[in-house]
Amino acid sequence: MLIADDNGSGPTTSGKQGLAVLARAAARAFATRFGTAPRWLAAAPGRVNLIGEHTDYTGGFALPMAIDRYTVIAGAPAAGPLAAGARPRLHFHSAAVNASQDIPLDELPRAGEPRWANYVRGVVAGFQARGLRPAASLDALAVSEVPLGGGLSSSAALEVATATLLEAAIGATLDGLDKARLCRQAEHDYAHVPCGLMDQLTAVLGEESGPLLLDFDAERARPVPIADPSVRVLICNSNVRHSLGDGEYAKRRRDCEEAARVLGIGSLRGATVDSVDAARAALGPVVYRRARHVVTENARTLAAADALAAGDVGRVGALMYQSHASLRDDFEVSCVELDTLVDVARDVGAAGGVLGARMTGGGFGGCTVMLVRADRVVAIVDTLTREYQRRHGRAMTSFLSRPARGAHLIAPDGTP
Ligand code: GLA
Repeated sequence: MLIADDNGSGPTTSGKQGLAVLARAAARAFATRFGTAPRWLAAAPGRVNLIGEHTDYTGGFALPMAIDRYTVIAGAPAAGPLAAGARPRLHFHSAAVNASQDIPLDELPRAGEPRWANYVRGVVAGFQARGLRPAASLDALAVSEVPLGGGLSSSAALEVATATLLEAAIGATLDGLDKARLCRQAEHDYAHVPCGLMDQLTAVLGEESGPLLLDFDAERARPVPIADPSVRVLICNSNVRHSLGDGEYAKRRRDCEEAARVLGIGSLRGATVDSVDAARAALGPVVYRRARHVVTENARTLAAADALAAGDVGRVGALMYQSHASLRDDFEVSCVELDTLVDVARDVGAAGGVLGARMTGGGFGGCTVMLVRADRVVAIVDTLTREYQRRHGRAMTSFLSRPARGAHLIAPDGTP
């Protein structure tokens, strides 16, 4: 169950009001379940990536923003002393799946079923690896407005919110970069997805002042303002998820590592269009196209960050369309449903208020991200919904988001 999610086709904005409402819902659900008010409320957002896709695990650039849709975890020390022989544990309830799990705090949690709990287990393991353990058992309850499985990093939001809760319970504050790395490690070791750092870093560092230009080589972040006040970020969910996505992600990563090996460099960050072209025969056709995507995407991302800050949204939009074409043709991670949404958006065009569109996230389904004029949103969503339904016989869902604040604690009464 997603609390306060929009399941209709209309665009909605949740914003700060949405987070306060969600936090209060988490506090109430916690009190009902555990018979006491929570001591901590930890929030972490989902993310949407404006441009710079499949570049994070090769030391490149990306321009994601945290969205104003959060996962909130309410938590408190478990009531009463530990029974004789009982082990300290984190009792974790997920409202999204209406199920609970006990995760040991005094030994390394094991990955397994149910799979949603692996993200929590992995984060607990990361704290243990740093010698950080809560002194006693904890109760926790999570609610979320981040669409699950939509490519908006609901798993990173869960990991980072869990880490934020554990920081509060232990009384320790991790450095932001270390916290993101800890959560990425949870994803690698416990969910077996060899992801990069983009999702976790955005969930930790997100800022209301704008998307973040992330440099994964230097591991640095810089907010980039959206200078044109008439521009909005529209996220459209195709509501499809092609199962081949999982194995294909790892394959793409291996292709990029192979390209770097052939080029004799540590990562594709050191490659250029010329060096990739010069090695075309040695790379072979598939790895060549993968590498070409990465080097051109890095250049597009830097150009888009400059154009966004300069108010040149037409230029940002053109780069987004190019990014989509590169992901579709060279990196081969799009799908017909995402291509439809981008094609329809391009047909609406700047005259109809669409400045740019592309798939966002890992691909094989999930969402598109579009830059649109605020006063045209309703008509744009109408057209996309109608055409998507007509061509694919399914409903698109959509919402607007502003750049949002990264993970933080909320006062126990729900005031952000
Ligand atoms: C997923 C991964 C990220 C990143 C994107 C593609 O979201 O978790 O690390 O690689 O795909 O840009």
